[in-house]
Amino acid sequence: MKINDELEVLIEGMDKDGRGIAYNNKKIIFIAGALIGEICLIKITKILSKYIEGTLTKVIKETKDRINIDCPIYQSCGGCNMRHMSYELEKITKYNKVKNTIIHQAKINNFKMNDLISNDNIYNYRNKAIIPFKKENGKIICGMFKANSHEIIDSKKCLIEPILLEKILNIVVNYLEKNNISIYDETTKKGLFRAIMCRKSKYDKYMIVLIATASYDFSNLVNELKEIKEIVSIYLNINDLNNNVLLGNINKLLYGDTYLKEEILNNKYNVSPNSFMQVNNLMTELLYKEATRLLNPTKEDVIIDAYCGMGSITLSLANKVKEIIGIEVVEASIINARENAVNNNINNATFILGKCEDKIEELVKTKNITKMVFDPPRKGCDKTFLDAVKQAKIKNIVYISCNVATLARDIAYLKDTYQVVEVTPVDLFPRTSHIETVVRLSHK
Ligand SMILES: C[S@@+](CC[C@H](N)C(=O)[O-])C[C@H]1O[C@@H](n2cnc3c(N)ncnc32)[C@H](O)[C@@H]1O
Repeated sequence: MKINDELEVLIEGMDKDGRGIAYNNKKIIFIAGALIGEICLIKITKILSKYIEGTLTKVIKETKDRINIDCPIYQSCGGCNMRHMSYELEKITKYNKVKNTIIHQAKINNFKMNDLISNDNIYNYRNKAIIPFKKENGKIICGMFKANSHEIIDSKKCLIEPILLEKILNIVVNYLEKNNISIYDETTKKGLFRAIMCRKSKYDKYMIVLIATASYDFSNLVNELKEIKEIVSIYLNINDLNNNVLLGNINKLLYGDTYLKEEILNNKYNVSPNSFMQVNNLMTELLYKEATRLLNPTKEDVIIDAYCGMGSITLSLANKVKEIIGIEVVEASIINARENAVNNNINNATFILGKCEDKIEELVKTKNITKMVFDPPRKGCDKTFLDAVKQAKIKNIVYISCNVATLARDIAYLKDTYQVVEVTPVDLFPRTSHIETVVRLSHK
């Protein structure tokens, strides 16, 4: 076999990113866009010692799971990658991704694999969008990034982002064009306007954050935006750092409420521009319910919620336990978490500012910790933190992860001390290949 060869293959499986899998002389071939059960004509594009890649030329026999693609920018956009298959097949693919990664990567077998938790709300489910802007051939463009790149696709409509985003982007682009406002250029590092962030609450209220490199009088734009009755808060965020992180640390309130009000499992939250919040409100509640079921908290428990963000897991567990302690590295989130505890009349939750790996050892020495939750960022947990968790011999741990690869690495590291008992995939990110996983570990 050589590059550009065309061959007819049966698609026998799906990989973790939703690509079809076929075999040729026992060698695995990955084909983007092909679906399990289909017979496809493919063209070979890459041949390596361990695997081959091909592109889909023609679907000869189609599966019933192939659906019409409803997004015009799907093929190039880096957002979704499962819009060409039924949601049913997407869920099976994600279930297998979680199960297989734990079995093959962590080399752990004896656990109970629970059904994937999902809902049917697969459109406009995201509560936060950050949209970059650029000037290209004299025209202001904005939209999602292309897959694996920093190139912007000029498109204001997105089927998973908040529904009013398109209307808001149209107003902002018109304003910037009319007023000849310069757009930040990543190459020259010059220009004023960088991006927009849009947050939407469960109550259908919006917070808009205009992201610029310097202060500017945006009052006419604010006047236009506040005509949209759902917008209750507008900020200017100043980011003068020449990096590719869009949101900076300085926020100036330009209109309306300081916070966006959110509710998760009957607790009320004040969300600020920089707060971390799970992106899918309805599924977050199901995720926290599952984490609570697996943790099985009691009134005798003293619990650590590591990587606690603005304290939403901490506070959802507080009334079920004796004491709960959240640890988080971002100061704004800790301030937010403390306010959220007060606003919900919760007085058995405390919050520690710092890195989990720096705080854990002292904490497990001074308190009789019975259970733990951890929900780290995509890169997973630091080894120092995991070493302290091993030493502490915690009875029951619930590990929540948005990246099953680092989850598998970390539970493999813990497996001499902790046994994986149950695993539940929770689909917070429909139509993309991302999946949240909740794991219950128990001390051996
Ligand atoms: C996936 S979020 C989880 C937030 C929260 N549990 C929730 O459900 O909203 C991960 C959080 O870990 C924080 N973080 C990242 N590295 C950290 C570290 N080394 N120590 C403590 N917190 C960290 C991030 O700021 C972020 O708020």
